[in-house]
Amino acid sequence: MIKIAPSILSADFKKLGEDIRRVDEAGADWIHIDIMDGHFVPNLTFGAPVIKMVREVTDKFFDVHLMVTNPQDYIEPFRQAGAQLITVHVETAPHLHRLVQSIKAAGMMAGVALNPSTSLSTIEEILPDVDVVLIMSVNPGFGGQSFIESSLDKIARLKKMIDERGLDTIIEIDGGVSPKNSSAIKKAGATALVAGSAVYNAEDMVKTIAELRNN
Ligand code: DX5
Ligand code: ZN
Repeated sequence: MIKIAPSILSADFKKLGEDIRRVDEAGADWIHIDIMDGHFVPNLTFGAPVIKMVREVTDKFFDVHLMVTNPQDYIEPFRQAGAQLITVHVETAPHLHRLVQSIKAAGMMAGVALNPSTSLSTIEEILPDVDVVLIMSVNPGFGGQSFIESSLDKIARLKKMIDERGLDTIIEIDGGVSPKNSSAIKKAGATALVAGSAVYNAEDMVKTIAELRNN
């Protein structure tokens, strides 16, 4: 089952609730929520209070992508705000195993994200413990960047690691995803596709989400 996860980073923030309802009605499976702290990445977005408010406009699954230096400080606030999956960057977490366990103990799914320059070897030990591995196909911080082509091979190598261990870990891809490359991305092995600008800038959101799913 493919999950399409529009990123609200590309929404119109002066009408965020409405823009989340639009992707919900257009066929999104997950709502991808990018949390940036201006330290780990050179950009700032929003925090748990905003998520708590928009939790009221949709029942869709909240996929929270933490791009912050101290992810351990944000697990509980985001759980309370309604997150169902929390993904943390391996680059931010020296005690990744403890962090992943604390996300799961709080009743949520746990994901780990890797920057483009981060090797898959960094998650070899944690792989059996996580629900999702998020492969960044751009350097995190901004929407609308170009897909880094070598990410396809990285997805394929991750898929092999998962299969060899008999796991069913979800591979999520984030950055520069569009109906133009969604076919190759799925062929490589990803089953959750984040798309920000491709969905929110689309003339026909329903068509674009269907293309991401079916292309
Ligand atoms: C980038 C974010 C992405 C971003 C994707 O740091 O993690 O989720 O919103 O945006 P597009 O799809 O426009 O590359
Ligand atoms: Zn993201």
